[in-house]
Amino acid sequence: MADRKIVRALKGETIFPPPLWMMRQAGRYLPEYRATRKKAGSFLDLCYNPDLATEVTMQPIRRFGFDAAILFSDILVIPHALGRDLDFVEGRGPVMTPIRGEEISRLDGRSFHDHLAPVYETVRRLRQELPSETTLIGFCGAPWTVATYMIAGHGTPDQAPARLFGYRHPEAMARLLQRLAELSAEYLLKQIEAGADAIQIFDSWSGVLDSGSFQKWCVKPVSGIVKRVREVHPEVPIIGFPRGAGAHYGHYREETGVTALGLDWSVPLAQARELQAEGAVQGNLDPMRLVAGGRALDEGVDAILAELSSGSLVFNLGHGITPDTPVEHVEAMVKRVRQGGR
Ligand code: CP3
Repeated sequence: MADRKIVRALKGETIFPPPLWMMRQAGRYLPEYRATRKKAGSFLDLCYNPDLATEVTMQPIRRFGFDAAILFSDILVIPHALGRDLDFVEGRGPVMTPIRGEEISRLDGRSFHDHLAPVYETVRRLRQELPSETTLIGFCGAPWTVATYMIAGHGTPDQAPARLFGYRHPEAMARLLQRLAELSAEYLLKQIEAGADAIQIFDSWSGVLDSGSFQKWCVKPVSGIVKRVREVHPEVPIIGFPRGAGAHYGHYREETGVTALGLDWSVPLAQARELQAEGAVQGNLDPMRLVAGGRALDEGVDAILAELSSGSLVFNLGHGITPDTPVEHVEAMVKRVRQGGR
């Protein structure tokens, strides 16, 4: 455990060259992922099959030697474990039946951990199979981001349905977020008990909110999760990723208590450097630079290293890798980060 570089960096050590991993590193840009995904049948079958989920988590580690593996699952297994229907439709993403206000107090958590047992089993197997120096990252979606899919029933560009729901039915929204926060904390604790070394909370849709809503719907429930996980496992670093939070990034760490900040690519490097004065940051290469490759990629990597590598940094993308990314560009990125840039 002593030499897991990502754990050390998240806790505030400066490591040069910085350790790295990529959000969505197990995914469709890899031919071996597409083969396993085909064998599994549906995407959810893959998430709930410990053999195959372990296999796809390991694939990018074997190929690129990243410093962290992230559990292969999805943020929407939480509502699924609460009895909400869920399907992943090719080319459309997740599809669910939109939840109605009166259904919120009836969300059934009785078989929650039984439903998620295959995920915990995947974490156990991963910790056994991974090289001892590789950090294993567990995760959950932040309550707001999970709620946006539960309310709209699918992805939307601006989460208008969830925002409207929250303004029209504030008590119901508060109850839903509170419930998701409690269960997400229990879910993370189980992942830690099964062997996760660090945790990431994905708040992919925090960027669509005004200040008041950001405080109520992002900061408050995430604080609840952090508080509960810390009570039991104070040593485990927690990465908060409030994508698109812009000016709200400044207070997010202090207010939620997360250890490290995941930065999206729109965060200016000068602001990132200021945030780094208070603790580790992770990020924030534009995934399109990785698709483009060549000079765009090299300049992006070099700029991040120049500005942030004298403090605690986990190199990553500013959001998930996209399926159209050439594998050779990932190899080039890893090489450049490992040699400390230009
Ligand atoms: O990062 C990893 O490699 C670990 C696995 C992981 C997945 N989803 C696998 C996945 C993680 C951490 C997630 C998180 C997730 N899921 C988020 C938060 C991060 C983000 O990207 O903003 C969100 C919002 C979801 C919900 C979700 N899952 C959407 C919107 C989609 C469809 C979009 C798409 O890329 O197709 C998914 C599907 C999904 N989750 C895929 C993968 C590899 C692709 C599905 C497939 O293989 O058919």
